[in-house]
Amino acid sequence: MDFKQIVYERRAVNFFDSTKDVPDSLLREMIETAARAPSGFNLQPWQVMVLRDPEKKMRLQKQAWNQPKISEAPVTLIILADTEGWMPGNPFVEKNFLEMKKSDGITDERRAWFDNACRSLYGTSEARRVAFACKNSCFFAMLLMLAAKNLGLDTHPMDGFDIDGVRKAFHIPENYWIPLLMAVGYFRTDKTLSPPKWRKTYEEIVISFE
Ligand SMILES: Cc1cc2nc3c(=O)[nH]c(=O)nc-3n(C[C@H](O)[C@H](O)[C@H](O)COP(=O)(O)O)c2cc1C
Repeated sequence: MDFKQIVYERRAVNFFDSTKDVPDSLLREMIETAARAPSGFNLQPWQVMVLRDPEKKMRLQKQAWNQPKISEAPVTLIILADTEGWMPGNPFVEKNFLEMKKSDGITDERRAWFDNACRSLYGTSEARRVAFACKNSCFFAMLLMLAAKNLGLDTHPMDGFDIDGVRKAFHIPENYWIPLLMAVGYFRTDKTLSPPKWRKTYEEIVISFE
């Protein structure tokens, strides 16, 4: 599929064929492709919980407006956004710094500058910590959906859920914000896909305040 076709054919599908599984190899390819998403300082503050077990999917569904696609899809993902994914001591921050030393030649002397830059950009308030985690994780989530479509899979992103309920039901630590759930599978061919939804035009999107 060419890129435009992938973009136009990706839809939030409501009905999944629960008899058609998503092989681990496809899921891995989808996630590894989405991992190419850009992020501030390449910090990649995203992680994903993969739910296949019917009991777990139903547990999630109960916290998510009882949306049936959660249990009908063979796989449902909980996208996690780490609000502390910029902090010194976080294992991925430390890994990132080691990688930057190798590839960009950044020196240990620059470490204090790096930590201060991250703190001032991402760490000065709860709103900023959440914004950091979510903006980066949503680039990742978008690529997950496009990568899935490219592999012949369908998806449905959802934010209709009780974040505290999901956190409690799955013992998710407080440092993670949960921007999205995502059902992954194959559209049920006995159902009709709703017509494409409207989108803002170029003129509606481009704006100036001068
Ligand atoms: C952040 C986000 C949250 C969403 N939450 C839900 C949801 O909880 N339930 C649902 O049925 N659809 C949800 N959707 C799907 C949207 O309604 C859908 O993407 C939009 O209507 C455009 O349709 P399309 O994706 O098929 O082009 C969500 C989409 C996004 C991006």
